[in-house]
Amino acid sequence: MPDPTREELKQWDRTLVWHAFTQMAEYEPLVIQRAEGCTLIDIEGNRYLDGTSSLWCNIHGHRHPKLDEAVRRQLDRVAHVTNLGASNPTTIQLAKRLVDLAPPGLEHVFFSDDGATAVEVALKMAFQYWRQCANPQPEKNWYVAFDDAYHGDTLGSVSVGGVERFHAMFKPLLFKTLRVPAPNPYRVPPGVGRENARDYYLGELEEVLAADHPRIAAVVIEPLVQAAAGMIVHPPGFLRGVRDLTRRYGVLLVADEVAVGMGRTGRMFACEHEEVTPDLLCLAKGLTGGYLPLAATLATDAIWRAFLGTYAESRAFFHGHTYGGNPLGAAVALATLEVFDDEQTLAGLPPKIARLAGHLARIAELPQVGDVRQCGLIAGIELVRDRATKEPYAWQERLGLRVCDRARREGVLLRPLGNVIVIMPPLAITLDELDRICLAVERGIRAAPEAPGVAATDGNGTRPAVVERGASAP
Ligand SMILES: Cc1ncc(COP(=O)(O)O)c(C=O)c1O
Repeated sequence: MPDPTREELKQWDRTLVWHAFTQMAEYEPLVIQRAEGCTLIDIEGNRYLDGTSSLWCNIHGHRHPKLDEAVRRQLDRVAHVTNLGASNPTTIQLAKRLVDLAPPGLEHVFFSDDGATAVEVALKMAFQYWRQCANPQPEKNWYVAFDDAYHGDTLGSVSVGGVERFHAMFKPLLFKTLRVPAPNPYRVPPGVGRENARDYYLGELEEVLAADHPRIAAVVIEPLVQAAAGMIVHPPGFLRGVRDLTRRYGVLLVADEVAVGMGRTGRMFACEHEEVTPDLLCLAKGLTGGYLPLAATLATDAIWRAFLGTYAESRAFFHGHTYGGNPLGAAVALATLEVFDDEQTLAGLPPKIARLAGHLARIAELPQVGDVRQCGLIAGIELVRDRATKEPYAWQERLGLRVCDRARREGVLLRPLGNVIVIMPPLAITLDELDRICLAVERGIRAAPEAPGVAATDGNGTRPAVVERGASAP
């Protein structure tokens, strides 16, 4: 069989492949054929800087020799072993490494394969825990989640998610979740300022916990940064406050570090910034350096022990995924952690974080920019029609997409969250590359409002951006 032509590939991509979060009637193919470091190369030979880490997952760059080699070496042993009642040395070593690195007290690892499944696992573990712990409280089967939260697209994850535009339709399928406002220091209610935002939002959470804690199994949070909500950076001390409240009211804390874990915030895990150990911690995306689907839900010993017993007692965790803990994924995850050590990745971040901050300070002055926010190498730039009133651009104007389309013409691939431009490059990005990304964003913002009605597409091969409430799925 001859190789397909470029035109055939595009035609098949348009008509056979059903892309996630993409209006296929308008889809314009972007077909990436290969990559080098932080650069993606399409079938036409166009080169793009990977400004959002291939949907927030690439860490050390593409085709990193050590990561490539780890996959090849594992292939010479075995590609897949079930983890239902069996194991393999690579996955075992990864569990050991994760437990050594994770916030103290997280001592057991349940492997699955994606961010959404890591969260499903945490939700079901919390539920089953309350039925089987020493002092069972089976009526604890509600969850608390934040407005605009995003935890993935399976139904459990959607139940604790809060992105109206995408989740509203599925409401009849979802279980009960109590909502608290997203701790967004930019869009605070009247009478609340940046200085008291933390206390205000903790107060809102406490009200819910105080009223309903006997029914609440867990609070689910994206620690420090609510990513898909528009890279909302929580007020300092908020996570610590949530941990204290959940302990006070006897409720588990699930930290979803799928987006923010693996160094993005400047520390390996976001929870480290506030010395928090959650009861359950979810990892995926960057866990394999952005190479392969693998996820992990880490649990405390107290939770683990609630599941121990004889076979006849039926206390096992009744949940599993065929590819959970896949050895190829585990091999590249182990290599990802080794590269963190070899290249001193975390120690190399401060100059990059500072360079990004410098660019953001300049971009913040543009008249279309309402807010810039940053945590480590994660940045969100919120575009507004009116800085004084914070009035958003209508979603139909597709302003975020237009800015990103403009940046793409300069060889920078980005994906907005509605009217929020996201910069979230691989941690391996160089200062030069970071400059190119930020300058392309700046020029895109300057240019975009001058071209109203330009038909931007969802066609950068990722999920479409957004939305009425200023947020969208990642
Ligand atoms: C915080 C968070 N949790 C969960 C997920 C879902 O991950 P996945 O797409 O791998 O299922 C995402 C995806 O963006 C995320 O940002």
